[in-house]
Order: sequence, then C-alpha cells, then structure tokens
Amino acid sequence: MTNIQVLPGLYQNGTGPGWKELVDGINGLKGVVIILGAPDTGKTTLAFYLSRELQLRGCNAAMVSADMGQCAFGPPATLGMSFLRGPTSLRDLEIHSMYFIGSTSPVGHLLQTTVGLKKLVEKAQGGDAEVVIIDTSGFIEGGAAWELKFQEIELVNARHVVALQRGQELEGILRPHEDRKCRTIHRLKIYEGIKPKSCERRRDYRRQKFSEYFQKATTKGIPLRAVRLINPLNILTGEGYGGLYKGLLVGLNDDENFTLGLGVIEDMGLKELRLLTPIEGVERVKLVRLGAIRLDENWYDSRVRQSQELGARD
Ligand SMILES: Nc1ncnc2c1ncn2[C@@H]1O[C@H](COP(=O)(O)OP(=O)(O)OP(=O)(O)O)[C@@H](O)[C@H]1O
Ligand SMILES: [Mg+2]
Repeated sequence: MTNIQVLPGLYQNGTGPGWKELVDGINGLKGVVIILGAPDTGKTTLAFYLSRELQLRGCNAAMVSADMGQCAFGPPATLGMSFLRGPTSLRDLEIHSMYFIGSTSPVGHLLQTTVGLKKLVEKAQGGDAEVVIIDTSGFIEGGAAWELKFQEIELVNARHVVALQRGQELEGILRPHEDRKCRTIHRLKIYEGIKPKSCERRRDYRRQKFSEYFQKATTKGIPLRAVRLINPLNILTGEGYGGLYKGLLVGLNDDENFTLGLGVIEDMGLKELRLLTPIEGVERVKLVRLGAIRLDENWYDSRVRQSQELGARD
C-alpha cells in the first residue's frame, strides 16, 4: 500500500494517549473492534483514526457507525458501514451499506440495533474486511444499555473491546469480557479538551444531517402492491388514514432488507405510497420499514406515539 498518502488535516482532531499502541495491538490480532464510551468521549474520532491507520498499514478495514443519533456518517436513524479505500476524511467516507433503525436512539429499538449491527459487520467481512471498527452510541447507563452492549459484543464476537472512560463508568459493561481468551480489553483515557454537547446541539446536528440528506429529494410514488410494509403494529392503510402517516420517516429497503434510502411519507392511499426521497430507481425497493419518528418541515425529528397516533389496536 504505497500509493496512499495521508491528507493534510486528516486527523484534524489529533490523537490520544495509547492510540498508536492500540493500532499495533489490533494489527497484530485482527478482528472486530468495538469502541465503547459515554457521550462526548471521542468514540467517533478514535474509530475513524483506527480505521485509517490500519488501512494505511495495508489492512482491509471497514468502519461501522452503530450510533443512530450522532451518526459518524449517513443520515440519523440508520446504522452504516463503509470500506476505507484511498485517502479520505470522515466527512467524505462513502457508505457501502445502510440499515434503517427508525429511531434516533436505541431506547425501544434494541433488537433492530443489534440485528442491524450484525448484518453490517457480516457485510463488511463478506467484502473481505480483516478489521471492522465499530463506533457505538453513548447509551451506557442502566440495565437496557448493559444488555445492549453485552449482546452486541457477543454477537459480533468482538476481538477488541475499547473503553473510553472518564472514571469507572464502563467497568460494569466490561466485567463479563474480562479474562476471556477470545477478547482483549483496552482502557483508554479520554482527551480532556472535549466540550460536552447539549441536547439542543445534538438535535441540531440531526436536523442538519437530515436536511443534507433530503436536499435533492423529490416526491415519488411507490405502488403498494410492489412492496411489503414492515409494519409491526398492523397499522391501518387506505383512504382516510394517509394523515396518520404524514411526515413519518421510513426505510426503503432492498430484498436483503438493507436500506437503499430514506423517505418521508406525504400520503398513503389504498394503492400508492407517496413520499419524499432522494433515491432513484424506487422499483428496487422491496420492503418499506415504518419508522418511529416524524420529520417536520425544518427537518427536526420528534418521536411518534405509535400506539395512539398510528391507529394500533389494543
Ligand atoms: N483525541 C482527540 N484530540 C482532539 N480532539 C478530540 C479528540 N477526541 C475527540 N476530540 C474532539 O471532541 C469532540 C467529540 O468527539 P467525538 O465526536 O469523537 O466524540 P463521541 O464520543 O463520538 O461523541 P458522541 O457522543 O456525540 O457520539 C469532537 O469535536 C472531536 O473533534
Ligand atoms: Mg460519536
């Protein structure tokens, strides 16, 4: 790999203590690497750094963004996978595969998050990635978060578990993986200069990502007979129900249930789903997954109270 040059400013965010040694450790023992940490601990910065450094050393690397809120790449409410090929910056990473979660938080979507992560890691490995670096969400507190992280680590069979912590906040999550031959735990200190982001800033970040994603979107129609709705609540469809769906975010998925793109529903009739989407070739859409958030005209997201608003039966 002599033709790859490091772009100036590639690591605008710098590196951190122990990062270079971590690259050596992963390079010597390749496999899946999962990065854990509370919000604002430098997970995404480290994930990209590792992916690039490993690629520069000639290793086939893929990065998976398993954070559907403050996603490293791709639109919010999805998980994404990118192969690192050639010089690039985090912003310019090309997304290879996407998996729709339908929410900007894993809360209430633990299964979708775990399944999506597994599918993306498999896709990366099927594309010959020797190392898959997973950037996770900052959801680490409480029983549900513990279970999510435990199952994710098990399911992807993480070779390296990297913990970015200020104090001891990840120790409970790390404990079941301690002293196991199949895992190596790396504890790293966080960069002290990180300024925590407020909820408003996080919301604005999502808004900006959605607005960029839908910038070139146009209204398109998908015949309902050509697709299957993934509709766990058996939400009613047909004339008169269109209003219930207005503004709902949906995943437009292919035959393998990977996401070709997102749509925002304008209307749902008996025969046709009309939505705003940037994707071309809607005939490739086989499955439409209904999300749990709506987007308003300014691209701000809000949660849908599914059982009441979307007509679920008791
Ligand atoms: N080692 C570092 N050196 C310099 N700046 C850093 C470093 N790590 C992170 N930062 C900066 O801190 C900020 C937060 O980092 P990052 O987005 O990687 O954290 P995160 O844990 O992924 O956050 P989130 O919870 O939003 O996902 C960014 O502006 C990043 O540039
Ligand atoms: Mg992040």
